[in-house]
Amino acid sequence: MQENADRLARLARAWDESAAGYEAYFVPRFAPWVDLAVAGVTDADLPDGAILVPCCGTFPELDRLIDRFPDREIVGIDLSPGMVELARDRAAGRPHVEAIVGDAQALDARWTGRCAAVVSVFGLQQLPDPLAAVRAWLDALRPGGRLSVVFWPDVTETDGPFALVAAVIRANLPAYDDSRWESELAAAVTDHGAVLDRDELPTFPMTHAAAAEYFDAAAHSGPLRSLAIARGDAFMDRLRAEFLRRAPAGEWRHDPHARLITAHR
Ligand SMILES: C[S@@+](CC[C@H](N)C(=O)[O-])C[C@H]1O[C@@H](n2cnc3c(N)ncnc32)[C@H](O)[C@@H]1O
Repeated sequence: MQENADRLARLARAWDESAAGYEAYFVPRFAPWVDLAVAGVTDADLPDGAILVPCCGTFPELDRLIDRFPDREIVGIDLSPGMVELARDRAAGRPHVEAIVGDAQALDARWTGRCAAVVSVFGLQQLPDPLAAVRAWLDALRPGGRLSVVFWPDVTETDGPFALVAAVIRANLPAYDDSRWESELAAAVTDHGAVLDRDELPTFPMTHAAAAEYFDAAAHSGPLRSLAIARGDAFMDRLRAEFLRRAPAGEWRHDPHARLITAHR
């Protein structure tokens, strides 16, 4: 219990510290996957009800949702007050839109069976129990409501900065595999009474000016921030040195894949 609370507190702090840098560096690079996730609900006729965006971060999903559903109640939920502050900036002047601080895995009971859609991008893989989160998100849907989730699986590429960071971390931390849930995800959706519409590994190109630029963005404003807080500067310096020693020189283009699942009630 305490371990889970500590993990959530560290994640919230990590994303607070990352928020502005994440918006500048990662949001533009992750945009094709955000488009895809949002299209998973905007390409459909939705029933009435709110659209929830768990793990909204700075809320890059918002503009695309508003284009299609200008009058809907749209609610972003994120653990990090720093992220929510930027999400609120993005939502400013939109009376139907709200961004709230909260745990995406423990949705408020007021949403149960009342939502038209749940869209979540790049948050699921960080949650303590991703399958429980997906079940909670399905429970929020009305009949006909849609779920669209994009997340980073444990393996995103065989070659590229994401793969190299993972290899360098594995070499410096005791082996720890918590990715078994990924193979149980499709069954978790159907066992929970929903229809799985898509289960894909969408790939898009991404470019970094140099290996160091990527590592520093990840460590200061992205997915490595939480590790940096937990392990400290000396550990991160060691990871960085090893990463740079094994990385190619110059601009680095790669083609990582995420995983998309869409489902409906
Ligand atoms: C990589 S960011 C993605 C943000 C945004 N959806 C995007 O695509 O840019 C992941 C977000 O998930 C949030 N997050 C992590 N665990 C969470 C939890 N248990 N509840 C709510 N948000 C959480 C983090 O605070 C962070 O803002």
